[in-house]
Amino acid sequence: MTAIDQGDLQGNILCGYGFEHALYAFLQVRERAAARGWLRDLLPALTTAEPWGAGRPDSTANLAVSARGLAALGMDREVLAGFPADFLEGMASRARMLSDTGPSAPERWETPLRGEAHVVLMLNARSESALARARDEHLASGALELVYEQPAAALAGAREHFGFRDGFAQPQIADRRAGPWVGSGTPRRFGWKALQPGEFVLGYPDEDGAPPAAPAEPYGRGGTFMVLRKLRQDVALWHRWMREWAGDEREERDALAAKIVGRWQDGRPLSLFPERVHDQPSADELRRTNRFRFRDDPEGLRCPLGAHIRRVNPRDALGGDGRLSSRHRIIRRGMPYGPPADGDRPDDEDRGLVFVSFQASIERQFETIQARWCADGDPFGLGADADFLLADGDPDGKMTIPGDPPRYLHPQPSFVTTRGGGYYFVPGIGALAALAGS
Ligand code: HEM
Repeated sequence: MTAIDQGDLQGNILCGYGFEHALYAFLQVRERAAARGWLRDLLPALTTAEPWGAGRPDSTANLAVSARGLAALGMDREVLAGFPADFLEGMASRARMLSDTGPSAPERWETPLRGEAHVVLMLNARSESALARARDEHLASGALELVYEQPAAALAGAREHFGFRDGFAQPQIADRRAGPWVGSGTPRRFGWKALQPGEFVLGYPDEDGAPPAAPAEPYGRGGTFMVLRKLRQDVALWHRWMREWAGDEREERDALAAKIVGRWQDGRPLSLFPERVHDQPSADELRRTNRFRFRDDPEGLRCPLGAHIRRVNPRDALGGDGRLSSRHRIIRRGMPYGPPADGDRPDDEDRGLVFVSFQASIERQFETIQARWCADGDPFGLGADADFLLADGDPDGKMTIPGDPPRYLHPQPSFVTTRGGGYYFVPGIGALAALAGS
């Protein structure tokens, strides 16, 4: 089993911090020497993946850099050219492929989130006051220009704004320190196989057996790529729509919402629990919530073929004993933003999910999920039907809920809209030191 150098890897990638408060600060380099000086000062304060022996700190600090940011910090052109094309091009230029069109098109994104910032400083903290202290500590110098700030905070019960428990299904990684609590690996005929760390950290063997092509040293080791998307959720529309389609009975509305996601609001998967269970899942049940497959439900009678979790991690549904999905996994570390909604009462609040995923290849992992599995239904025999949870309002879009008779949800509403985002590199500590010129 590979042992990852945890001291060189930034934290919150393979193991989540579990903090309730976060701030994403988007920064521009105006003066290279000042920016490098700031980075040198920040280095000792950055949180690595080393286990927290003495207990959780009050706050953590991590850093991601865009392609433009690497250039602004003075990375050699040839070294930069060794980075993958997806990262160099950036998210907005790949918007069509990602189905960021209509209300989600880059022209409609919040201006500072339309192209990648040079640097994103990510602060996590146990309280709002600890977050404010960390913000002051790291941003007060003004060495980089602060162009945008996005606070985020966990909602009660680790739910996202539509009311589902979120963020707990993560890939299981074959690393000595990452235990089975990290989540599930690839389903095999007998049992499950943990994923190779190179799927998520550059410089380590991946599912292909060898470390994949990576940027030149020291950037090719201990780093990863980050996708950040600000996804607005229309919670009033979600509840209103459920009422229109399922009526006033809470049970019926929850059951319909569960078919769209593929899990009940409490996190139990429809594949294991086709009927609602009313008590909260026990710790043991939750540990087992990820040990299910889809091939034993080929028509989607329990979990619809187009349900969110069946698209984003098809497990064994595409055949090949899980191998066809094993190269397209992501680690999610996003957090909700904005205040909780008051049921279906409309208001003007901006709320949603700061979606954050880590992967060794943005194109092979995030983009395959987003573009081929969420924005299209073809791989699942669903024609052009997109993920009903995520897709933008499409008058021709629908979702099929198999049954006798089947049910067709139509047209596709706009529950989620992209407000901006970018592709970033999260360097290892050694690589950051090189960038800082230390
Ligand atoms: C506002 C937008 C979104 C909402 C409300 C949402 C909601 C959820 C929920 C409730 C779950 C089940 C709980 C869990 O597994 O942790 C889930 C799982 C997941 N989602 Fe999303 N999601 C959103 C966007 C996305 C996007 C954009 C992607 C990737 C393109 C994505 C990828 C995943 C993955 C990989 C899983 C885990 C599936 C598994 O391994 O079983 N989600 N999501």
